[in-house]
Amino acid sequence: MAQGRRIKSPEGNPFERGKQVRFQFEGRSLQGYDHEPLAVALMAAGVRVFGRSLKYHRPRGPVCLHGHCSGCLMRVNGVANIRTCETPCRSGMVVERQTGWPSAGLDFFRAVDLLSGERLDHHGMFTASSVLNRIAGYVVRKLSGLGAPPTADPQTPVPISRFSSDAVVIGAGAAGLSAAKTLSGCGHNVVLLEAEEHRGGRLLDGATQNGWERIRDFKEEIESVAGIEIHVKTPALAVYPGDTLQVVAGNEGKTFWISARRLIVCTGTYEQIPLFENNDLPGIFGPRAMDRLVCGYSVVPAEPVLVVGERDATLRLAGRLRELNVTLAGVVTTRTEGDALTSLKRKNVEIFQDRRIVRALGGKWLDRVELAHRSSEQSDLVLDCRACVVEAPPAPAYELAHHAGCRVSFSSQSGYLVQVNDEGQTTHGQIFAAGHIAGSDSVDAAAQSGERAGLACALSLKDDAQVRRRLESMQKG
Ligand code: FES
Repeated sequence: MAQGRRIKSPEGNPFERGKQVRFQFEGRSLQGYDHEPLAVALMAAGVRVFGRSLKYHRPRGPVCLHGHCSGCLMRVNGVANIRTCETPCRSGMVVERQTGWPSAGLDFFRAVDLLSGERLDHHGMFTASSVLNRIAGYVVRKLSGLGAPPTADPQTPVPISRFSSDAVVIGAGAAGLSAAKTLSGCGHNVVLLEAEEHRGGRLLDGATQNGWERIRDFKEEIESVAGIEIHVKTPALAVYPGDTLQVVAGNEGKTFWISARRLIVCTGTYEQIPLFENNDLPGIFGPRAMDRLVCGYSVVPAEPVLVVGERDATLRLAGRLRELNVTLAGVVTTRTEGDALTSLKRKNVEIFQDRRIVRALGGKWLDRVELAHRSSEQSDLVLDCRACVVEAPPAPAYELAHHAGCRVSFSSQSGYLVQVNDEGQTTHGQIFAAGHIAGSDSVDAAAQSGERAGLACALSLKDDAQVRRRLESMQKG
C-alpha cells in the first residue's frame, strides 16, 4: 500500500494538528491527529479506495474534502454513511469501508462495470417473469445500497435550544464574516452559523493571497466586537417564513431554533470536477480539496501532482505546492500571461499550453492522464501523475436561499445565482445574500458584498444616518 506523505506544516497555518491518536481501520491500527479529518489520516496512511459506487462498483475516493460529494463515505463506530472528510479523528474510533464484496479494496462486482459496456439499464432487466424479477430485486439489493443500518440503538434526540436574534448570518467565509462584523458594529446582535469546523471559507485556502493573515484579523476584530454569537460545525438546515424568520440549524450535540428578524445568506460555492473520461477515478481532486489537504492538513496524498486550470487561484496553488516541495508533473493551462503563470515559469514548473485533459487512466487510483490539443478530440500526450487537480467553475450553493423564497436566475457562466439588488437585498423582504451566491467572483469582492449587505440589513432593522452615509459611500465606490 503506497503511503501518502506528511509534510511540515506551513507557517501561519490555521489548521492546527492536535495530539496523536490511533484508530482502527478494518482490523489495522492507524495513526492520525486529533482534529484532523479521518479522510486525511486515511490518505496519509495510504488508503486509496474509500468505497465503491452504487451501481457499477467503480472505486471511490475523496474529491472535495468539504462535505459536498459522497466519495469519502464510510462506516464509523457502527454508523453508516459518515463523511470522513468532515469527521475528526478520535482515539479508538472504528472505521470500515461499507461497499464492495469481499471488500471495497478488491471488489468482484467491479465486473459489472467492466462487462456492461456503455450502460446497464436496470429498469428493463429481468422484467419478463415476476419470479425472475423478484430474484433480481433481491440480488440487486444485496449488491448495491449504502451500508447496513447502525449496530447500536439510535441516540436519544438532541436537545433543542430556542432563542432569538436581530439577524442570522449563514456562512463564515469572507462575505459572512464581513456581514456579521458590520451588523454587530451597527449595534445589532447576530448569530453566525458555519457548517465547517473553521471560519474563513476561501480565506482558509493556502493559495488565497494573505488569506490566513486576514482570518486572524477577522478573528481579532470579531472577538473585539460584542454581539456576535458564532456556532461552527453547525449547518443551517431550514428556514421557515413568518413575521420573524425561523432558522433551524444543528450540530452533534444540539438543534438550534432561532427566531430572526433578518437573514443574510453567504453559503458560497461547491467545487465541481469537469467532464472527461474516468473523471471519477480516486486521485482526482478539485483545487480547494488539494489546497486543504496539502496547505491546510500538510498531507500529500500521492505524487507527482498534475494541475489543470486557468484561474489565478489554481495557478497559485500549483506554485504553493512547488514551494512546499511537492513533486509536480506540470501545469496544463490555456493561459499565456499573468503574474501567477510567470511565477510558475520562474519556479521551473513545466507548462503544457493549449491542451486539455481528455481521459484519466488507472485501476483503483490515478496513474496517468491523456491530454489533447484544445481543438482536437485525439489525445497526443500521456503524462504520468498519481494525483490530479482539475478546475471547473464552482457552483453557487444557492439552495437554502431558494428554498427560503428568494428568486434565483441562471447564467451559463456562473450557474444559479441568488437575485440581489445593489445592496444585497434579495426578492424576499427579510433576506439578504452576499458573496459568491450573489455573483462575487473573488474573495475581496465577496468581503465587500458582505459589508454592503450588512449595512443594508442594519438599515432595514433601524434607520441610522451614519449607517446610511456609509452605505452610500460604498455604493459610490
Ligand atoms: S464529501 Fe468528503 S470528500 Fe467530498
